[in-house]
Amino acid sequence: MTMTNNNPYKLCVAPMMGHTDMHFRYLLRLISKKTMLYTEMVASNAILHNKSKKLNKLEHINDEPVGFQLGGDNPKQLAECAKIVESYGYNEINLNIGCPSKRAQSGNFGACLFDQPKLVASCVHEIAKVTSLPVTVKTRLGIDNIDNISHLENFINIISNEGVDTFHLHARKAILKKGINPRKNRSIPPINYERVYKIKQNYPNLRIIINGEIDKPTEVVKHLENVDGVMIGRAVCNNPFLLNEIDVLIHNEKILEKESVLEEYFKYIRKNFSKEIKITDFTKHLSCIFKGYIGSKHTRAYMCHELNYEKEPVKKLEELIFKEDLWKNGQDSITTVI
Ligand SMILES: Cc1cc2nc3c(=O)[nH]c(=O)nc-3n(C[C@H](O)[C@H](O)[C@H](O)COP(=O)(O)O)c2cc1C
Repeated sequence: MTMTNNNPYKLCVAPMMGHTDMHFRYLLRLISKKTMLYTEMVASNAILHNKSKKLNKLEHINDEPVGFQLGGDNPKQLAECAKIVESYGYNEINLNIGCPSKRAQSGNFGACLFDQPKLVASCVHEIAKVTSLPVTVKTRLGIDNIDNISHLENFINIISNEGVDTFHLHARKAILKKGINPRKNRSIPPINYERVYKIKQNYPNLRIIINGEIDKPTEVVKHLENVDGVMIGRAVCNNPFLLNEIDVLIHNEKILEKESVLEEYFKYIRKNFSKEIKITDFTKHLSCIFKGYIGSKHTRAYMCHELNYEKEPVKKLEELIFKEDLWKNGQDSITTVI
């Protein structure tokens, strides 16, 4: 059973449904070569029983290193999915123990598995039996009243016994019982970085990746003094070029010219756009760079919706990006992923 992660990344982009699809990951890979990327969570049932969804969510182009995040609670089914995921060329399998949604709770996957560590152990055990990929776990610090460091340590003890050596810790508990929606579950209760640092101190041999409300390059550097890696979610959706700013600090990379990244992404769009795909599937990931000038709201609505109804959407997009150069005017924080 080989579970050791051969890609000891310092920075990764969080799995985010509706965001970290293959097109966004392609854009992010143009911006950062070393950052680990993750897919959106895909439930095991969706992979095993829904063929069309399966194909969409599994395909990917030039985005390695990239981990595939699975959701589920059935060890044999997850193992079946792991084989399929490996055959698609992913570099890691990540199990979701953080999703607080009602759907996840009714399917007994995501955050509600936090207090079923033996079942999670059996899931990673079965997955590891059939794949040579590293298996990692992304979890909250606790759920509801099961929320002190000893619960988290119990969880980590049982799962790491199965060979899992990397844990992504979203530094807050999930609130399940009160029916709070996933969005609110990303802002309450307050973030608790100290508990994550403590886990790293208590488990020096495990790779501990910290996650939650990190949005500045200097914060990343500070966290890296205490943990092995940093995972960023919303801040990357709001500004994909943040990855480059961080790479400059932690990997001595050069500052990228936004225009050349956009040129490359545009080539990708031109090559991959077809009647079966909406142009906005590509451009929704670019809309955030059009923030901060008069009329930007309108432009972003156009990029995310109206562009679909143009007769020649690719040509229109080219004009918007390269002729008008509106994106050069910088960013604001009016519309953000929260
Ligand atoms: C729109 C959205 C979708 C998300 N989808 C997932 C998901 O599929 N799997 C997962 O583990 N976490 C998911 N998350 C949670 C993020 O991975 C991350 O843990 C959380 O946003 C905190 O990090 P941040 O403060 O850097 O955004 C999602 C978050 C957002 C904003």
